Amino acid sequence: MKPASVLLTRLIPDAGIALLKQAGLNITLNPHARPLLPEELLREVPRHEAVICHLTDRITETVLQAARPRCRVFATCAVGYDHIDVEAASRLGIAVTNTPDVLTEATADLAWAALLAAARRLGEAERTVRAGAWRGWGMMDFLGVDVFGQTLGIVGAGRIGAATARRATGFNMRILYHDTTARQEIESLGGRRVSLDELLSSSDFISLHTPLLPETRGLLDARAFRRMKRTAVLVNTARGPVVDQAALIQALRRGQIAGAALDVYHDEPRVPRELMELENVVLLPHIGSATLTTRTRMAEIAARNVIAVLRNERPPCLVAPRPQ
Ligand code: DGY
Repeated sequence: MKPASVLLTRLIPDAGIALLKQAGLNITLNPHARPLLPEELLREVPRHEAVICHLTDRITETVLQAARPRCRVFATCAVGYDHIDVEAASRLGIAVTNTPDVLTEATADLAWAALLAAARRLGEAERTVRAGAWRGWGMMDFLGVDVFGQTLGIVGAGRIGAATARRATGFNMRILYHDTTARQEIESLGGRRVSLDELLSSSDFISLHTPLLPETRGLLDARAFRRMKRTAVLVNTARGPVVDQAALIQALRRGQIAGAALDVYHDEPRVPRELMELENVVLLPHIGSATLTTRTRMAEIAARNVIAVLRNERPPCLVAPRPQ
């Protein structure tokens, strides 16, 4: 029998490829150093039993329809799967899998790197040095805000939110969180569950860790920014559309909040010029999980998910159809 075929829509670390090869699968790799264009994706998916995809691929119902009947699984190399029409996949009998857990710590590290960078104006300071514009130490230069002993508000206290909160204990911070349910891990750190309004008005740093769902789209809107302290810093390592980007730009311009650190945007890789022009924003290119170890583990899990589905076994990280 012909070996089954897996499409890799982007290059993944060797360890993932090795697992696929050991399982006897044929691999087709997107030859471009960019995501496949929608028409290329549509043309390619029907030729494979499995697809390892990424958040840069829009796996719409049209793509899923095209992939049938041959393709049995879309394995995303990410914890977030908002780029896949999961409901359509379930209906069409195509499995969807993801790669949770292994990226929790790396993403929480990045949230902290971003938080500290915004608090201490690292972007602006580094740009000054690189431009040759530093004129020497100055008592009143680059004055940031304290992190130690302040209040951290976590919106979405799942795995990454809890890991971000855990790091805050080393900074002697008071922790507030907002989630639909009480979260034991964060409570055991002394975190207190509060309404979104209370979190917004009481936190010095607000870090977003909620998945993108219909109910979290635009969660931080103009009204939310009005509730925040003028000294507050917003950190978003979750998904761009959780924040109303236009409202954020207004809030930063008007000084309604002190700063922001963003790893994610509405329409990646497009970053609005208005954001680029602001000194009080740290702008990162969606690198939350970008360490070699983490990306290697993500690739391994994606490969294991594919192999399991093709062997008619339950994959380690099944998103849909929902496990019974
Ligand atoms: C995810 O996993 O959802 C991140 O955004 C990318 O690693």
